[in-house]
Amino acid sequence: MANPSILILAGDGIGPEVMAEVRKVIAWMGDKRGIAFDVSEDLVGGCAYDAHGTPLTDATMAKAQAVDAVLLGAVGGPKYDKLDFSVKPERGLLRLRKEMDLFSNLRPAQCFDALADFSSLKREVVAGLDIVIVRELTSGVYFGEPRGIFKEGNERVGINTQRYTESEIARVAKSAFELARRRSNKVCSMEKANVMESGILWREVVQEVHDRDYPDVQLSHMYADAGAMQLCRWPKQFDVIVTDNLFGDLLSDAAAMLTGSLGMLPSASLGAPMANGRPKALYEPVHGSAPDIAGQGKANPIACILSFAMALRYSFDLGDEATRVEKAVEKVLADGVRTADLMGPEGGTPVTTGQMGDAILAALD
Ligand code: NAI
Ligand code: MG
Repeated sequence: MANPSILILAGDGIGPEVMAEVRKVIAWMGDKRGIAFDVSEDLVGGCAYDAHGTPLTDATMAKAQAVDAVLLGAVGGPKYDKLDFSVKPERGLLRLRKEMDLFSNLRPAQCFDALADFSSLKREVVAGLDIVIVRELTSGVYFGEPRGIFKEGNERVGINTQRYTESEIARVAKSAFELARRRSNKVCSMEKANVMESGILWREVVQEVHDRDYPDVQLSHMYADAGAMQLCRWPKQFDVIVTDNLFGDLLSDAAAMLTGSLGMLPSASLGAPMANGRPKALYEPVHGSAPDIAGQGKANPIACILSFAMALRYSFDLGDEATRVEKAVEKVLADGVRTADLMGPEGGTPVTTGQMGDAILAALD
């Protein structure tokens, strides 16, 4: 059988710097564990614009559709800020998400013990936290029609429409229940069924999918505003949270910050199953291209390495190897190895991007 395939799109700014460390982990998997991947590499974002006049060529798009998983670094930077909207670096990323139909965005909020004091919340509230927010990514109020700014009488009116079809809700619900079965079998669905019809439908469809196909999973429903409060009060009550595009945007950013630095946060965006039964998938750190530190060896590669760990788990059924990578990260942090973004007020000497990658490799050994 062919090796599993990965397309690396390192992108701009610190993207290539953090991806270099992921490459070390991929090589380690081959050398030490006998797990080989077919790795190809291509351009996305500003670097693709520089080379081809577009942030994502059709050829790259076709490659992304054909591989088992795409790993993306980050796109954008001040150099590209004045470009026309249609060729901005972010358009490359949006095209990938749209054409691969990546409707299920997994945003873990995990608090490594060694970083618990980084949180704005008390240590006991966040230490050991490990939850995942599943955000619907391709529909809802960011896409619904009608939308626009219109003239009504003698004033302007701005309109966006929250619109969800039954099948759009069902497929993201299914994705959340599948995820829960790999974890502690608990899903909390969040909407505003008290004031929004789309929320009423959301609640009904999630419940139907549950009763029909996932009766073994513990399901609860919560209004999204109450959910935001509960996330700050006692986040460990949750395991998997599933919610729409808009609420998911806010809740996942808030949940992420419970745990500390942007340099630590991975994500996965999953679509429909391919012929081999695995979902179309794109893995990327939550952070951007960090132009303020690009080229200085300061970037924290952990978010990108943990994104690769998610790929091991969700695209390649290598959950044990994913855990091995996560444990290595945990050990390195416990040993006090810190990139600059993880330095507290007490100071100390930060390691470089490459040194952090090497420390993680040593811990893997
Ligand atoms: P950003 O995430 O790039 O940076 C925000 C702050 O966090 C900066 O101070 C940066 O130095 C720091 N930071 C981010 N990642 C880090 C890491 N791995 N290690 C250490 N420090 C890290 O967001 P910003 O500054 O708003 O955007 C910069 C550029 O990135 C823009 O062009 C923006 O459009 C783009 N962007 C791209 C994204 C993507 O590719 N998915 C997501 C967000 C922004
Ligand atoms: Mg956001």
